[in-house]
Amino acid sequence: MEKKIVIAIDGFSSCGKSTFAKAIAKRLGYLYIDSGAMYRAVTLELLRRGLIVNGIVDTSRLENILKEISIGFSFDPAKSAYVTTLNGTVVEEEIRSPEVANHVSLVAAIPRVRERLVELQREVGKRKGIVMDGRDIGTVVFPDAELKIFMTADPMVRAQRRLKELQEKGISISLDEVMKNIEERDYIDQNRDASPLRKADDALVLDNTHMTVDEQMQWVEEWVRKLTM
Ligand code: CDP
Repeated sequence: MEKKIVIAIDGFSSCGKSTFAKAIAKRLGYLYIDSGAMYRAVTLELLRRGLIVNGIVDTSRLENILKEISIGFSFDPAKSAYVTTLNGTVVEEEIRSPEVANHVSLVAAIPRVRERLVELQREVGKRKGIVMDGRDIGTVVFPDAELKIFMTADPMVRAQRRLKELQEKGISISLDEVMKNIEERDYIDQNRDASPLRKADDALVLDNTHMTVDEQMQWVEEWVRKLTM
């Protein structure tokens, strides 16, 4: 039997981390966990409850909300993919909205939110044979992951990729707005006190500015082969 490993993928927003992580999981028959979707789901819940006003999060009821909330992933046969659920309802579309994107880094900077979600991530990731993507997977969630990848790409290329993705979903937004959101999130993610985005010392850097998805796959397969032989 081939050895199963944990693959941790971190990096800046809109680098194509989740597309890459999903493709790896599919190829290897591993479980893919989107940790960003979990931060997005908490953000959606806080927005729905009216607890984020003018860029300030009301944390007075946070403890209860974090206790009551249930976040999961269920398989959607129509999409042939896993979709995010919040309290039993599919919220895959809502969590990708610009409204959630504009507030998620704020929520992800709250230490208590991170503590609770890291706990959940370690729970789902107990078994080997997983690919998880996020900002702190190689540094905090799975510091012992056998393969750590830190993804980056030119910010303009990232903005264009994200714009295309949003336009395909019928969301009307300008390149400027997308660029602003990416820059803002990069800044908050790297400068927060609670587990800021940084490359783990033992992570491999993957700059995919000029790479195709196929080229990325060849690159990672080579590494997986070496590590599982
Ligand atoms: O897909 P995209 O790169 O836009 O972002 P995401 O992976 O869905 O994550 C959304 C936001 O959640 C990030 O900008 C971070 O602020 C936060 N996040 C985090 O702090 N830690 C993680 N492990 C994953 C996401």
